[in-house]
This record gives sequence, structure tokens and C-alpha cells, in this order.
Amino acid sequence: MEMSVKFIKNKQVYDSGLCMRGLNLLGHAQMIELEIGSRCGGHGKCGADRVILDPANQARVNLPTAIELHQLTAPEIERGMRLGCQCFPNADELDLEVIIA
Ligand code: FES
Repeated sequence: MEMSVKFIKNKQVYDSGLCMRGLNLLGHAQMIELEIGSRCGGHGKCGADRVILDPANQARVNLPTAIELHQLTAPEIERGMRLGCQCFPNADELDLEVIIA
């Protein structure tokens, strides 16, 4: 099975080429030197590494963390917004499509 995280930024697709549950989405973006807005180095403090997952992909990652519940509003979470540093694939072999907010 193909494994990848595909980041979509300004209608361009950036493929990280792998998907591992031990690595958060910020880490996947960093592996291909893709800027997704992190200002705190992945410590859950800036709230700036925002990505959006569609409903099918939301089921393929962990549930929002306490940090996300603090940093994001309920409507943002409802429409699939996550923080890249808090969002982990829930299996090693996935195709995930992620929009950079
Ligand atoms: S990188 Fe700052 S909250 Fe995720």
C-alpha cells in the first residue's frame, strides 16, 4: 500500500512520501521542509500550525488533544481544523490529505 501525507497549500500538493503514526503532521511537513506555520517548534504553544482534514481523514488520526481544545474554537474543530504538532496518524500505512490553513 502507498503511504503518504499529501499537504495542500495554495492549491499545490506536497507529498511527504510516508506516513508513520509516531510522527505528527508537523514532523511530516518538516521532513520535506514545508512551512505550515509553526512558531513554537511543536510545543503546542503558538497554535499557528493549523491544518484541515476532511471527515474521512479525521477518522484516520488521533482525537483532538487538550492543547487543541484550548487553542482552537469548537467551530474550528468541527470543520476539521487541527494543529499539526498535535495530530498523529492512527496507523502506519495511510494516505492522508491535509489542507494547510
Ligand atoms: S507548532 Fe506551535 S502549536 Fe503546534
